[in-house]
Amino acid sequence: MNKNEMMDLFREEYGSVDKEIITFLSPGRVNLIGEHIDYNGGFVFPAALTVGIYGALTLREDNIVRMRSKNVKGEVVINLDKELVYDKQDDWGNYPKGVIKELKDRGHKIGGMDILFYSNLPDGAGLSSSAALEVLMAYIVLYLENPEKCEEIDRVEVSRLCQKVENQFIGVNCGIMDQFAVCLGKKDNAILLDCNSLYYEYAPLKLGNYSLVIMNTNKRRELADSKYNERRGECEKALEIINSNKEEKIPNLCAATVEDINSLITDDAVKRRAMHVVTENERVKQSMESLKMGDIKGFGELMTKSHISLENDYEVTGLHLDTLVHEALKIEGCIGARMTGAGFGGCAIALVDEAKVDEFKEKVSTNYEKVTGIRPLFYTSKLGEGTHRL
Ligand code: GLA
Repeated sequence: MNKNEMMDLFREEYGSVDKEIITFLSPGRVNLIGEHIDYNGGFVFPAALTVGIYGALTLREDNIVRMRSKNVKGEVVINLDKELVYDKQDDWGNYPKGVIKELKDRGHKIGGMDILFYSNLPDGAGLSSSAALEVLMAYIVLYLENPEKCEEIDRVEVSRLCQKVENQFIGVNCGIMDQFAVCLGKKDNAILLDCNSLYYEYAPLKLGNYSLVIMNTNKRRELADSKYNERRGECEKALEIINSNKEEKIPNLCAATVEDINSLITDDAVKRRAMHVVTENERVKQSMESLKMGDIKGFGELMTKSHISLENDYEVTGLHLDTLVHEALKIEGCIGARMTGAGFGGCAIALVDEAKVDEFKEKVSTNYEKVTGIRPLFYTSKLGEGTHRL
């Protein structure tokens, strides 16, 4: 999808207009390693994709924001002169609405507009369509406020703001990783982000002769939000137990040691959650070493270990993700695989010998379908830029 195609979609939807149509793209993200530790002050290693959510808009003279999506029927209308509140019926419209409310509350100038969204991210696949939509809306508002100064938009602050909307307006207690990756993505690079300090570094993803294959279970993420919040609660509990038994308090669960966990936590589930968190943070650090040395196989092994930990200790995988990952690992040429994102369905990733990717897809597809009755989908998206104007 390019700018002109997006403008055509806008005209198809709203009729032809004699005003300027302004277009944007906000990418989805994939996380390479460091799962479920962003909200525990750990290191994560996500990257923005080249697929995502497009936005096209024209300005209106009044204070009405009219939003439609090419992917779902219906229209969400916001009156900027009224109090903006979460409304279940507005469904996806709550994401941009929450962002507009937050920006308005902070004193930003927002006028009326007609917007069309179009997503080429697979639906419900855990590639962060909600973060893409939130950041897109924030970027649109800030861009329109001062187009000449769009380079100066504080992207770290935008990701914080969008995370706040997701936490408080939508009610999902997510960490900052998705909004950060969507907002700060860089072509061909992944981002090593310290979620404790928000210090980050770009790292060109040099995978040698291996391709990063995204594998979609085609199983919609289910109960993801409630289970997600449940896991966060368990991590908070683990931190509380550790801190109530230690003289020197630790700031977050990633700062705990394996010994702290073994000696202080008795509840089996809470112990395993904490164990995942601490070992996963170590795996991210080791991954950076492996990649620096060009040891792609070492990185692949860490990815697989990450999955096993998410499967057994953090318990956020399930039949579909596990089948996909384990079938992938059986195929020659696959040197590592893991679920990506929140889990409970959605996508996994694999590192596969470039020359064997087609064979890999075919075999994994057949074997996965035998077990689950569902055909998976595969993508080989490149790593792309954060949210931008087209
Ligand atoms: C979701 C959340 C992120 C992160 C991942 C798991 O994508 O939005 O903040 O916690 O799950 O790593």
